[in-house]
Amino acid sequence: NGYTIAVVGATGAVGTKMIQMLEQATFPIKSVKFLASKRSAGKKLLFKGKEVEIQETTAKSFENVDIALFSAGGSISKQFAPEAVKCGAVVIDNTSAYRMDPDVPLVVPEVNEEAIRSHKGIIANPNCSTIQLMVALEPIRKQYGLDRIIVSTYQAVSGAGIYAINEMKEQAQHMLNGEPYEAAILPSGGDKKHFPIAFNALPQIDLFAEDGYTFEELKMINETKKIMGDNKIKVSATCVRIPVVSGHSESVYIEVKEDGTSVTAIQEILRNAPGVVLQDDPANQIYPTALEAEGKKETFVGRIRKDRDEDKGYHMWIVSDNLLKGAAWNSVQIAESLYKLGLIKERN
Ligand code: A2P
Repeated sequence: NGYTIAVVGATGAVGTKMIQMLEQATFPIKSVKFLASKRSAGKKLLFKGKEVEIQETTAKSFENVDIALFSAGGSISKQFAPEAVKCGAVVIDNTSAYRMDPDVPLVVPEVNEEAIRSHKGIIANPNCSTIQLMVALEPIRKQYGLDRIIVSTYQAVSGAGIYAINEMKEQAQHMLNGEPYEAAILPSGGDKKHFPIAFNALPQIDLFAEDGYTFEELKMINETKKIMGDNKIKVSATCVRIPVVSGHSESVYIEVKEDGTSVTAIQEILRNAPGVVLQDDPANQIYPTALEAEGKKETFVGRIRKDRDEDKGYHMWIVSDNLLKGAAWNSVQIAESLYKLGLIKERN
């Protein structure tokens, strides 16, 4: 009894975390299929202590699969997600391939779980930086309304994949040893120039669009409007890569609609918000950090301050593990929601 779950990109930075999150899932799992490229076929990964052989991803991989979690890049999702849907699977896609498709729900379960009811086979997992922003801001928006969000990110290298993590570590070692080093991946594998990330901060994530924003920044802007279901909300983002392995941090400025709000009232909202941990006690140096958030599923919020000039303006610091809530955990949580809402049938 139970479901057959496929993980596409099972060997990747996110895929390996998807496997860990599936081990903790509460819905019944009958079997798992770990899919990757031909390069990995035949290698083995553990699931609940048992070895599972990795298979090459092909159109046939999805026969009898109930839920397919994709995190192998947008082009793989474009190629194989429709095949998985044809086989009757529900796809939960962690890439940006389908996020803005009007037929595809874009879901953060704490915020818009009900949206999954309208899926037509594919459900999209939002961008990692967007997810933690939504978990923290939606409870405030529900209570006070939001006119504007301005966010600057401090993003970990694991968001760019396993090779980017290795690049950072090797660069750091070489630099400490006074040896020559090179950059081959970051800021973006698809762009012409590469810069060192070790001991650096790079104001480019993904490629540049025409108006000077990067696609990462546009993802945050467009996805926020879609998830909050509000096209009028003003959103702007600056996305920066920093030499942290996992855990994205965000400096966030918001303007609420309502008069008479306060820091203590916002703290109270966040203390009771699902998926949020309030860590906000500057007198005792309590605030979220990336290292402390690593390995945890929650979104951590602190440094909540009123703007000194704008009465409806607030600043805060939002941190979460980009591989967990930002990717693998949110995807598995969507699968949990499908099960909870009775949206996946067991096959005989
Ligand atoms: P593989 O390890 O076989 O290359 P990351 O984001 O950490 O770089 O991981 C990318 C993931 O996408 C890996 O699991 C990788 O598998 C997978 N992948 C890359 N190319 C393909 C492909 N052509 N078909 C299926 N999976 C792929």
